Amino acid sequence: MTTRRLVLTRSAAVVGAASTGLLLPQIVRAQSGKIRVGLMLPYTGTYAPLGVAIENGFRMAIDEKGGKLGGREIEWFKVDDESEPPKAVENANRLVQRDKVDVIMGTVHSGVQMGIQKVARESGVLSIIPNAGVHAATRALCAPNVFRTSFTNSQPTLALGKPMWDRGIKRAVWITHKYAAGDEAFEGFRDSFTKAGGTVVKELGLPFPQVEFQALLTEIASLKPDAVACFFAGGAAAKFIRDYAAAGLKGKIPLYGSGFLTEGVLDAAGPAAEGIITTLHYSDSLDTPRNKQFRLAYAKTFHLQPDVYAVQGYDAGQLLVIGAGAVKGDLGNKQVLYKAMESAAIDSPRGKWTMSKSHNPVQDMYLRVVEKGENKVIGIAAKALADSGAGCKMG
Ligand code: BEZ
Repeated sequence: MTTRRLVLTRSAAVVGAASTGLLLPQIVRAQSGKIRVGLMLPYTGTYAPLGVAIENGFRMAIDEKGGKLGGREIEWFKVDDESEPPKAVENANRLVQRDKVDVIMGTVHSGVQMGIQKVARESGVLSIIPNAGVHAATRALCAPNVFRTSFTNSQPTLALGKPMWDRGIKRAVWITHKYAAGDEAFEGFRDSFTKAGGTVVKELGLPFPQVEFQALLTEIASLKPDAVACFFAGGAAAKFIRDYAAAGLKGKIPLYGSGFLTEGVLDAAGPAAEGIITTLHYSDSLDTPRNKQFRLAYAKTFHLQPDVYAVQGYDAGQLLVIGAGAVKGDLGNKQVLYKAMESAAIDSPRGKWTMSKSHNPVQDMYLRVVEKGENKVIGIAAKALADSGAGCKMG
């Protein structure tokens, strides 16, 4: 395993410790010849399991290549971003300015990502996004030093509308956590569903991370749509699935979603999840040697089953290994570094993918159904789907 020297800070609580020098030994070590890798992920709150899975996957990819980057050892720094957008700029700056990291790997929540994006654009630090799908990061606010190994928020749902229409769904209700991830997922759903011929009869939402779904479920029952489509992830997704069934809607109004709905939550959701159809760029059940080997190695190392978040973290690690290898560990050689990362063909457990011009994966979207506690692939909903990258001008 990689030598780990960790500095785990939890948001503003440690500012005092840093300024009084309590963290000085780590800072001194950070000025050695090691590559400084900053992880900014949620380790508390509804998205905490997502942050853990991403970190696990990321470390695994690097460990598989000897635990070094371009021949250099690694010094690790960690911040718990708590999925709190108001703290994001301060947290990212802590990694960049105090810890002087060479790369920020994070994060999960789209609102927090906007803070990282600001810091990445201002400082020029290499930024690898292992989840958050906020459009602007690889559209209007794209940057040469920012790369995403996950998706844009509308990518999975752009593949959802047609399969729903093909299953006879004509009138659908959309429900989501109301922030960039849910709103942009809705854009993809609305565009694909209406293009196929469907009508969105109502858009429902609640603020992140609230999980009091009862009133909204009552409204769905009274609207009597042909189906419900949604964006929820993490602990909130498990609760939504259970509450949907408990409200008596399961079996009456079919539930569809952006595939995060059923990622990493199937044990917690239990039988209530059976039959849910989703679209996503990964599925546990992908029957390929690459996916099987990855799943086996991950389970052996972490005693956990991997999900899409682990895959995205793993691919972030693979991408960084490729970039650092191309510059023999000299991450300051930006032209060569970015070129290598832009032209990387990632051999992922999800299937091979490449980077779009705006630095977002061009990838297949799978149609999946939950069957016996597993996301089973039942088709390819979109082949080599690229985000539009609208408004991206690499400076
Ligand atoms: C987001 O905030 O971008 C996000 C969070 C969890 C799953 C997918 C997207």
